Amino acid sequence: MSIQTEVEFLGIKQISEVVATTLAKMREYAQPGMTTWDLDQYGKQLLEEAGAQSAPMHDYDFPGYTCICVNGQVAHGIPNKKTVIQTGDLINIDVSALKDGFYSDNGGSFVLGEDKFGHQELVGASKEILFKAINAISGGVKINAIGHIIESEAKKKGYKVIKNLAGHGIGRALHEEPTGILNYRDYLNTQRFKKNSVVAIETFIATKSTQTITTKDGWTMVGNKGGFVAQHEHTIVVTEAKPIILTKANGIWN
Ligand code: CO
Ligand code: CO
Repeated sequence: MSIQTEVEFLGIKQISEVVATTLAKMREYAQPGMTTWDLDQYGKQLLEEAGAQSAPMHDYDFPGYTCICVNGQVAHGIPNKKTVIQTGDLINIDVSALKDGFYSDNGGSFVLGEDKFGHQELVGASKEILFKAINAISGGVKINAIGHIIESEAKKKGYKVIKNLAGHGIGRALHEEPTGILNYRDYLNTQRFKKNSVVAIETFIATKSTQTITTKDGWTMVGNKGGFVAQHEHTIVVTEAKPIILTKANGIWN
């Protein structure tokens, strides 16, 4: 959406704070021995207390309140009672929700407790790359220039990017135009970021895979070549200068 009024700005700001604090609290709540279902139930409670509704459930009938991926899962992981999270797991929580008709989206990967399997480097790379990408966005900047930053920074650090997932416009629905804010330079995309527009910028930094495949459950995505993927996402407002980071309270850059 393009923010035209103070009411719109306050609406998008409010739901952004809800999804950001929900993500931060879920990350703190995560403990070894818990299931992803337990974690999602906590997210449900936080969203309900804030008067917000899960966006993937509302817009797509996703079978969970939040998306939770563990280890080899890349996106749209369904919270369930069988997946017990353990020390050293690479976990991704993505929280998107709506309130008063305004949507916001954010996500982050983290290592649960001690980094037994060495995932922290990938997590750190994804955070840094998101920071660089977002700080390069202002009104008039080409969307594919941001994709180029994400991919070239990933390569420098020895990683790949997932090419079939993307950041997106957001505000009055979970996914709005522009829908293809890719993690590489798409030469066919001539679109530019527009001042006052609200967009969700997300990284998909991978050790081995470059595409995702949807598994039999119809939702959970895994990498085409295995390995691990880290994702970090903020919802922002594009301005003439640095963007306003609406979901800053999620603490992914702290
Ligand atoms: Co998103
Ligand atoms: Co998201």
